[in-house]
Amino acid sequence: MISANNISLAYGKRVIFKDVNIKFVPGNCYGLIGANGAGKSTFLKILAGDVEADAGTVSVGPRERIAVLKQDHYAFDEHTVFNTVIMGHARLYEVMIAREAIYAKADFSEEDGVRSAELEAEFAEMNGYEVESEAAVLLNGLGIPEELRQKQMKELDGGDKVRVLLAQALFGNPDILLLDEPTNHLDLKTIAWLEDFLFR
Ligand SMILES: Nc1ncnc2c1ncn2[C@@H]1O[C@H](COP(=O)(O)OP(=O)(O)O)[C@@H](O)[C@H]1O
Ligand SMILES: [Mg+2]
Repeated sequence: MISANNISLAYGKRVIFKDVNIKFVPGNCYGLIGANGAGKSTFLKILAGDVEADAGTVSVGPRERIAVLKQDHYAFDEHTVFNTVIMGHARLYEVMIAREAIYAKADFSEEDGVRSAELEAEFAEMNGYEVESEAAVLLNGLGIPEELRQKQMKELDGGDKVRVLLAQALFGNPDILLLDEPTNHLDLKTIAWLEDFLFR
């Protein structure tokens, strides 16, 4: 559940929103339509918390995780394709990295043992052992070949980057998924895959 409560926003004299109230309830897929420049992208950014409204609040259900299709195509340039996908679930990525770091230590102390047990439990709870297969399903579906998975994002062309960023948004079964023009740069086959994936 995500709701906008009395949202207002103006850029200078241009009023984009005034007292917008809307509630999006679980189990539904909503579309936002409007002319170019109407404020669709801005509204999604307000919902995602990337843009602050002049007034009003956004509320999200307790413990619900929001995933957003990132528009910044360069933000992950220094990361591998695989890690970029996992970063879609920030906490899972954090635990995965902490867990790998602890196992790579030469002097594994008793304290490390306790810490690793905690990380292991949290990792399992977030389906951490499935990350590889889940990322593979998404990347396959979106047409990213296996040999690109360990490449850095900066080595990919624009079209492939968009597909990886879409995989990132879809990764880890988010409770709320915000997609701004997700079918841009996708071919018909991939659009059909995406529709099918979203309706599952
Ligand atoms: N950071 C900003 N500063 C000033 N004006 C902006 C900013 N971001 C968007 N706008 C303006 O707000 C309006 C809505 O933009 P946008 O949300 O991108 O529209 P849409 O996605 O519906 O095409 C446009 O007139 C745009 O020029
Ligand atoms: Mg837009």
